[in-house]
Amino acid sequence: MAETALRAFVTGFPIKHSRSPLIHGFWLKEHGINGTYEAIEVAPDAFSSFLQSFPGKGFAGGNVTIPHKEAAFAAAQSHDAAATAIGAVNTLWLEKGVLCGGNTDAYGFAANLDSGAPGWDNADSALVLGAGGAGRAIVHALQSRGFSSIAIVNRTLSRAGDLAAHFGAGVSAHGWEEAQALVRQAGLIVNTTSLGMSGHGEAEDFPLDLSNAQKAAVATDIVYVPLKTPFLAKAQGAGLKTVDGLGMLLHQAVPGFERWFGTRPQVTAALREHILADMKKAGAL
Ligand code: ATR
Repeated sequence: MAETALRAFVTGFPIKHSRSPLIHGFWLKEHGINGTYEAIEVAPDAFSSFLQSFPGKGFAGGNVTIPHKEAAFAAAQSHDAAATAIGAVNTLWLEKGVLCGGNTDAYGFAANLDSGAPGWDNADSALVLGAGGAGRAIVHALQSRGFSSIAIVNRTLSRAGDLAAHFGAGVSAHGWEEAQALVRQAGLIVNTTSLGMSGHGEAEDFPLDLSNAQKAAVATDIVYVPLKTPFLAKAQGAGLKTVDGLGMLLHQAVPGFERWFGTRPQVTAALREHILADMKKAGAL
């Protein structure tokens, strides 16, 4: 008797560059699951009708990426704690017909550091560069893992201020002119800006001197194309421990896969190699 295939999606606009189908496809094959994970491009004005129609098409749920994360938050009838704190949803599933939304970005960020820099959360003080949508998930992750002082530096000071006001005690907002002094205090330095991201103007040199950072400081970037961003190159040059952003992408996929397909997958070296091979093929490395 043929079982009906389990279906999940990733939707965004555009969606063709998403590597999520490769990740979930790898796990489906690895676990021998009769299922599919499909990239579906949905324009913003069609997003709400997409949400209404996916259960009828046999989808158990899926991932949501730019620009739909806030709309998915608004549409979900129930939210997990991370989505509530961040105000954005990247994972959707159904519970007795109710549309539920979660956010796994903060989980993915922390799990990547747990794996690449164990003990990273022993520090009290973090410096977060950038205050965009991704910055919100990072600040939530840092608060959840006990950082008592989180300094956010952003070009547009009001965006950093909004984030600091949202997350409250221990989170402060600063302009770039203060970044140099903040580097010295931080046990963890996170780049969430698009500076140095492929296709966003190739900045060879990241505009921050890291030579005064604490010797035990950890530096991480959420950008993974290129894998060694100008920020990470600079941090390596300054002798800091670095963790690249690809692991965050891999780890954030774990909870969704478990929800839709019923098996908790592992982030392995083989999965990472599989994605790196695709990035090389696409000329992204
Ligand atoms: P996302 O929501 O995915 O994080 P975003 O909202 O475009 O993306 O945010 C990108 C981040 O990179 C922002 O913090 C942005 O600063 P502004 O809020 O001032 O726009 C930062 N950023 C982008 N280009 C930058 C540049 N040339 N110099 C400094 N910061 C930059």
